[in-house]
Amino acid sequence: MKNYITENKERFLEELMDMLRIPSVSADPKFKDDVLRTADYVKQKLEAAGADKVELCQTAGYPIVYGEKMVDPALPTVLVYGHYDVQPADPYELWNSPPFEPVIKNDKIYARGACDDKGQMYMHVKAFEAMMQHNALPCNVKFMIEGEEEVGSSNLGTFVKNNFDKLKADVILISDTGMLGNDTPSITSGLRGMSYVEVEVTGPNRDLHSGSYGGAVANPINILCQMIASMHDENNHITIPGFYDNVEELSEEERHEMARAPFDLEKYKQSLALTDVHGEKGYSTRERISIRPTLDVNGIWGGYTGDGAKTVIASKAYAKISMRLVPNQTSEEITEKFTKHFKSIAPASVQVVVKPHHGGEPVVTPTNSVAYQAAARAYEEAFGIKPVPVRSGGSIPIVAMFKQVLGIDSVLMGFGLDSDAIHSPNESFGIFNFLKGIETIPLFYKYYAEMSKGE
Ligand code: BES
Ligand code: MN
Ligand code: MN
Repeated sequence: MKNYITENKERFLEELMDMLRIPSVSADPKFKDDVLRTADYVKQKLEAAGADKVELCQTAGYPIVYGEKMVDPALPTVLVYGHYDVQPADPYELWNSPPFEPVIKNDKIYARGACDDKGQMYMHVKAFEAMMQHNALPCNVKFMIEGEEEVGSSNLGTFVKNNFDKLKADVILISDTGMLGNDTPSITSGLRGMSYVEVEVTGPNRDLHSGSYGGAVANPINILCQMIASMHDENNHITIPGFYDNVEELSEEERHEMARAPFDLEKYKQSLALTDVHGEKGYSTRERISIRPTLDVNGIWGGYTGDGAKTVIASKAYAKISMRLVPNQTSEEITEKFTKHFKSIAPASVQVVVKPHHGGEPVVTPTNSVAYQAAARAYEEAFGIKPVPVRSGGSIPIVAMFKQVLGIDSVLMGFGLDSDAIHSPNESFGIFNFLKGIETIPLFYKYYAEMSKGE
């Protein structure tokens, strides 16, 4: 298997780069045809790798690519999930090379989607090809690759609910997360949930001269900034009443266990050019980005931002706000608490509207399952180092839904690194990581089949 990967690595990389050339930005309707072309590309590659019944399952949005290889009903079935859509590449001017013209530099591929998730998803297609070529597929496999992960997976949710039988499987396998480092492999054991809202603050009914009116009417931008600032206290706790009511508090033992995963704060600061970190009092940086909930402004706008200066009091101000959730918070509960609070702190001089966007529930995946243990053995063999479980701060809302609707646990076998800069300019994916992923995945299948036998 290893030889096959080495012999074919140039082709694997070229195929990935061809896919990276298609700008499949799901958030922006301008790229609609490209997103659809990417679905076709994935379909064609799954077929070529040897999958049966490959089809584009139409949804109210972008299609889901499905394919399968059923070798023997007595064997366990692995359902592979990934996404072919990518984040917008903006701001383009911060890229060292165009985001949709992949280049290889310093043993990394640079392009939007190189890691999240085209590169990681494609490892599964190539690992499957390798197993098929060796007549060594030890499990049944189903692929479900969607095109709307970066916009909340709402149509996939419907698809999952309506296709219970089609998606029957023993485990869900996903590579859409990261690991601590190439010499400190880790397996993601949890993801945060999400509540995402957009707020609109309206002051006067039109934009006003800031001299004639300034001082006498509410400036919605000033007010919005005050409202946002008030949502964290001096200890960086979130001030929304009841926000922490259901938050799962970890025991000292659990926190101690977590702290054993290697983490270098100085390197962390250095890599982000920070003079200091910032966050909730009483928690470490690792804890702040995994087991604690957050509230962040993702964008804020209003008024005049063009060249020069314009003296104006805008009629409206806006912000997009995300809250990352941890076990036992729910997106519905938190969206409701946010909305109520946001309205309650608005002064009488403005009107506010809160529009909920997508949400998703947090999830913790078991580390004592056969599937997790098989993944751990696969990493240990491929990397020569035992992987540690790490809870991640990111969100993949469909993972909680898989558990809730299908009753199936996921194994989050990520191979990305923080330095891959997903969602940022100059996203990249190490060639080492891409190939290591292709090597590790068949080992998972092998150990999972073996270890499931006694079940
Ligand atoms: N692959 C990421 C999720 C991720 C990132 C998990 C880093 C672990 C570590 C995924 O594509 C993503 O970006 N998800 C969104 C959520 C979605 C609802 C837009 C996120 O986390 O912001
Ligand atoms: Mn992703
Ligand atoms: Mn993403």
